[in-house]
Amino acid sequence: MLFLLLLIPFVSASADYDVQIVTQYLQTYGYLTHDNKTVSSIGVGGNSSSFQEALIKFQDFFRIEATGELDNETITIMKKPRCGVKDYPQSFTLYDTKWKKNKLGWKFVYGNQQDKSIAEKCFAEWARHTNMTFFMDERKPDIVISYGSVKHRNFYRCKNSSACPFNLDGPGGVLGHAFFPDSSNNCIEIHLDNTENWFKEVGTFPPQNYHSLYYTLLHEIGHSLGIEHTGVNTAVMYPSLNDNRKSVELDQDDINAIQSLYGLPPVKRR
Ligand SMILES: *[C@@H]1O[C@H](CO)[C@@H](O)[C@H](O)[C@H]1NC(C)=O
Ligand SMILES: *[C@@H]1O[C@H](CO)[C@@H](O)[C@H](O)[C@H]1NC(C)=O
Ligand SMILES: *[C@@H]1O[C@H](CO)[C@@H](O)[C@H](O)[C@H]1NC(C)=O
Ligand SMILES: *[C@@H]1O[C@H](CO)[C@@H](O)[C@H](O)[C@H]1NC(C)=O
Ligand SMILES: *[C@@H]1O[C@H](CO)[C@@H](O)[C@H](O)[C@H]1NC(C)=O
Repeated sequence: MLFLLLLIPFVSASADYDVQIVTQYLQTYGYLTHDNKTVSSIGVGGNSSSFQEALIKFQDFFRIEATGELDNETITIMKKPRCGVKDYPQSFTLYDTKWKKNKLGWKFVYGNQQDKSIAEKCFAEWARHTNMTFFMDERKPDIVISYGSVKHRNFYRCKNSSACPFNLDGPGGVLGHAFFPDSSNNCIEIHLDNTENWFKEVGTFPPQNYHSLYYTLLHEIGHSLGIEHTGVNTAVMYPSLNDNRKSVELDQDDINAIQSLYGLPPVKRR
C-alpha cells in the first residue's frame, strides 16, 4: 500500500536549518527513526552518532564518499528532486505484491492527447521487456493516472475512499505519488502534482524548473507494477529524479526487476 512521491529542492539558509531539513529527509526515507531522543539530539548539534550513522548509510546508498558529515556533495544530492518511497540499499527491490494478470488497462483522467501519448510511451517501454500488455481502458482501468492539487481525490475510489490520504505540496516539492499493487488487485492510482511545470516532450531535456512528465511517469508506473527503489544510479527506479537523463529506455537494473516480476516478453512472431 506504499506509495511514492517525488520530492523537492530544499532551500538552504543556515547550517542549522540544513540540519533540520536533513534530519527530516533522513527520517522520511528510512535512514533515521522518528524516535524522540534521536530527533532532539540532532536538531541541536547535528553530529549525534545516530545522525552520523544515518548520513553514512545515505552516502553509501548514493555511492558517494561516506564521511558521516554534511558535506557539499551530500547536501547537493539531498536537494535534488526525488521520489518519496523509502530507499533500500541494493540493486532493484520488489514490493511484496504484484499483479496476478498479464493484461492491464490504464486511464489518464482528464489527460489531453499529449498526456495520453506520453503515458502510452511509458507503458510501451515497460511492456517491451516483459510478459505484460497494457491498453487504454476508459471504463474499468487497473491503473488510473490523474493530476491533483495539494488535497486531491482518488478518482476511482480505488482505496474505497474518495479523498487521497496523502497530500501533494504545491510547486517544487512533491511531484507525484503512486500506489503499489494491492493483494486483491483492486485498481490503483498515480497522482501527479498539477502545480508543477510539466515538460511534455520525450527525448529532449526540460528547461530549468520544468520536470519531465515521461521520466516521472515511467518511474511511477514502475512502482504501480510492484518495483521499489534501487541503488543503481542509472536506473529509472533510482530515487532521485534526473530530468537530464539522456536515455528514454529502461536501465538493465529496471529490466531485471520487471522480468523477475512478470517474466520475459513473449517471443514475437514474424
Ligand atoms: C515522543 O513524544 C511524544 C510527545 O512528547 C510522546 O507522546 C511519545 O510517546 C514519544 N515517543 C517515543 C517513541 O518516545
Ligand atoms: C558536536 O560536536 C562538537 C565538536 O565535536 C561538540 O562540541 C558538540 O557537543 C557536539 N554536539 C552534539 C549534539 O553531539
Ligand atoms: C561547498 O560549496 C560552497 C558553495 O558552493 C563553496 O564555497 C565551498 O568551498 C564548498 N566546500 C567544499 C568543501 O567543497
Ligand atoms: C472496497 O469495498 C468493496 C465492497 O465493500 C470491496 O469488495 C473491496 O475489496 C474494497 N476495496 C478495498 C481496496 O478495500
Ligand atoms: C505470458 O503470460 C501468459 C499468461 O499468463 C502465459 O500463458 C504465457 O506462457 C507467458 N509467456 C511467456 C513467454 O512467459
